[in-house]
Amino acid sequence: MNPTELIIKKRDGKKLSKEGIHFFTTEYLVGNISEYQMSAMLMAILLKGMDFDETYWLTQEYISSGEVIKFENTNGRFIDKHSTGGVGDKVSIVLAPIAAECGLFVPMISGRGLEHTGGTLDKLESIPGFQTQIPLKRFKELVLQNHFAIIGQSKEIVPADRRIYALRDVTGTVESIPLMTASIMSKKISSGIDGLVIDLKVGEGAFVKDLDTAKKLAESLSKIGAKFGKTVKILFTNMDSPLGSCIGNSLEIIECIEFLKGNYQEDLKEVTFALLAEMLLMGKIVKAKNQAEETIMQTIKSGKALQRFAKFVELQDGNPGIVNDYSILGKAKYALPIIAEKEGYVKDINSKEIGWALIDVGAGRRKISDKIDYTAGLKLSKKVGDYVQKNEVLGELFYNNGKGERVADRIKKSYCIVKSSIIKKGRILGIY
Ligand code: URA
Repeated sequence: MNPTELIIKKRDGKKLSKEGIHFFTTEYLVGNISEYQMSAMLMAILLKGMDFDETYWLTQEYISSGEVIKFENTNGRFIDKHSTGGVGDKVSIVLAPIAAECGLFVPMISGRGLEHTGGTLDKLESIPGFQTQIPLKRFKELVLQNHFAIIGQSKEIVPADRRIYALRDVTGTVESIPLMTASIMSKKISSGIDGLVIDLKVGEGAFVKDLDTAKKLAESLSKIGAKFGKTVKILFTNMDSPLGSCIGNSLEIIECIEFLKGNYQEDLKEVTFALLAEMLLMGKIVKAKNQAEETIMQTIKSGKALQRFAKFVELQDGNPGIVNDYSILGKAKYALPIIAEKEGYVKDINSKEIGWALIDVGAGRRKISDKIDYTAGLKLSKKVGDYVQKNEVLGELFYNNGKGERVADRIKKSYCIVKSSIIKKGRILGIY
C-alpha cells in the first residue's frame, strides 16, 4: 500500500478499508510513515470524517497497538470517567479519590493538554516526583491497592494514541468526531473497565461548540462503547467559561486539594458531583441518584477522600506533603492583577482565549517538545454573574517569562462586563 494514495483517498472523501487503517497506523508507529504524512491524514479525516466502520477499525488499531488490562471479578465496580477537555477542568483529580472512597475502582488512563485545554497528566506532573509513566503491572497493583491510579498512554498501553494525540495537539486536528472517539474509547477500553461516564464539554472553550455536534459525538462514543461491550453514559456540560477558580497546572492541584478539604467553587462541585452520581449508580454503590450526594459528602467531610488522594500521590512517587504545604509545588516569580476597566456584571469569560493566552506564559505547549511551566497560570476572583466595581481585581496572573503584560491584557479582553445583571446558569446541559 502507498501512504500517499491513502491520504488522497481520504482527502477526496472516500471510505478507508480496515486494511488501509491498519497499514497506516502500524507503519506510522514503526517509523515507515512520516509525521507529515500522518499530519496530512489526520487533517483529511478531520475535514472529510469517517463512518462508523472506519471509526471502529481505528479504535481497534489504537487498542491493539498496546496491551489490554484485565481485572478479575470486577463485579461491575470498575468505572471510569473521561472528559473531552476544557479550561480549568480538574474534575478527574478530585473525582477519582472520591469515587474510590465510595467503593469504586478507577483505573484511569489520561492525556496531556490539547491545544488551549489543560491535561490531567500535566497537572499531576506539577507535583514534585509524581510519575504518570509506570509499568502496567504496577498500575494494576495500585488500582487494586488504593482503588484508583492515573497514568498516561505509554509504550505498553495505547501507544498509537500517545503518538497521535501529541501530533493532533499541534496540528489543529483535535476537533474531529472519529479521532476523538478512537482516542477516548481506546484508552478506556484498554484499561479494563466495566463502564464509563463521559463529561462531554460544550461551548466556546471546548472542542465541541454546540449541542447538535455534542449529540453526534455522544452517539459515536456510545455506539463504539457498546460494540466493545461497555456501558457509556454521557453528560453534556458547559465550557463557555473556565471551570472553578484556577487555570494552570500547580494552581489547579491546589484547587483540587482545597476541594477535597470541602472548600469548593460551586460550578466545579456541580459538575463533579453530577458525574460521580452517574458513576455510583453505574457501579451499584447507590440505588438512586438522589442518594449520591450524601455518600459523596461523607467522603469529603470525614477527610477520607483527601487521605486517599495523599496516598495516591505517594504511591505514584509524588510528595504527599503537598496536601498541607503548598509551597512544595513552587511559586511563579511574578504576579500581575487583572483590573476591571468598568463596573458591571461579568457576562462572559472567554475560556478559549484564556487557554491560548496562558500558553504564552508556558502553562501549555506550542510544539510537542515544549516544557511546561507548572507554576504559570491564572486565579479568577470573579466568575460569570458576579458584580465588579471599576478598578476591582478580576483575577491574578502568575508567570515567569517576559510576556506577562501582553498575556494579562489578552485575559482582560476575554472578560465581557455589562450593565444589566446576569442570571447564573448551571453547567449541566443534558444527558445522553
Ligand atoms: N480527550 C482525549 O482523550 N482524546 C481526544 O481526542 C480529546 C479529548
